[in-house]
Amino acid sequence: MLAGPLPIQLYLKRDDLLHPLVSGNKWRKLKYNLVAAQEAGFDTLLTFGGARSNHLYATAAAGQLLGLKTIGVVRGDEPALLDSPTIRFCRSVGMTIHQVSRAAFREKETPEFLAHLTQHFGSAYILPEGGTNDLAIQGTAEIMPEISTQLGATPDVVCCAVGTGGTVWGLARSAPPQTAVLGFMALKGWSPPLDPSHPNLTYQTDYHFGGYAKTTPELLRFMADFEDQTGILIEQVYTAKMLYGVLDLVRNGFFTENAAVVAVHTGGLQGRLRRPVGPPRPL
Ligand SMILES: Cc1ncc(COP(=O)(O)O)c(C=O)c1O
Repeated sequence: MLAGPLPIQLYLKRDDLLHPLVSGNKWRKLKYNLVAAQEAGFDTLLTFGGARSNHLYATAAAGQLLGLKTIGVVRGDEPALLDSPTIRFCRSVGMTIHQVSRAAFREKETPEFLAHLTQHFGSAYILPEGGTNDLAIQGTAEIMPEISTQLGATPDVVCCAVGTGGTVWGLARSAPPQTAVLGFMALKGWSPPLDPSHPNLTYQTDYHFGGYAKTTPELLRFMADFEDQTGILIEQVYTAKMLYGVLDLVRNGFFTENAAVVAVHTGGLQGRLRRPVGPPRPL
């Protein structure tokens, strides 16, 4: 597919379709955590995030679906944050929102802060910000074998957006040795350290478009063109940046001829920007 020095076979793994509210990598990351929370008898989930967090949104939705109480500790104490569409949704499905200052939020993993939360809200199953922990990686490790089954072959390359790293680590954990895993950093100036136990995992650091959640007219243009031409919605924080990067690498002849390249759509469409961006152009 696509004009470039070498044609490749590009596939999109539609994890965005896993569930309308608990979508993409959030479904994967929550799966075993929710089982663990229920098995341990917790009736409350407590987690952390910014006012647009996909993870808060998915946790709130999952809690409501499973009959668990949810508490969202939100970064920033400005009252206006309560008006963000994500927080409005979280509250509408029953999440208790606890705003804390940015300084306090940075301390959220200290035993003192966690003790204070437990004192305030009672005992709860705690999920880290972004949802990445060992059980989350157990969930994201299930993406790779599904890809091979759905393709009927082992892919040459699997591409995925990276925030905390929990999704690519799961992909790398279950990747066959001949499959390269490419993580596209959504943040500027940071990528997880390379891990000798996952030699097939590398990072692309040039497609952050200015930093986390930053956009440029070029990215929004690409996103609109991609959506128009494929009918598949993407969002600007993660999957659009990753796909822009993949297509740029195709144009630069990065992949071998006819390589089977799978890009993972990690969902998160609740945070998608809808902007008029002018007439369409070819990808
Ligand atoms: C839609 C979406 N894609 C990708 C990522 C990045 O995942 P990870 O934090 O596991 O690297 C996130 C953040 O968790 C996300 O919300």
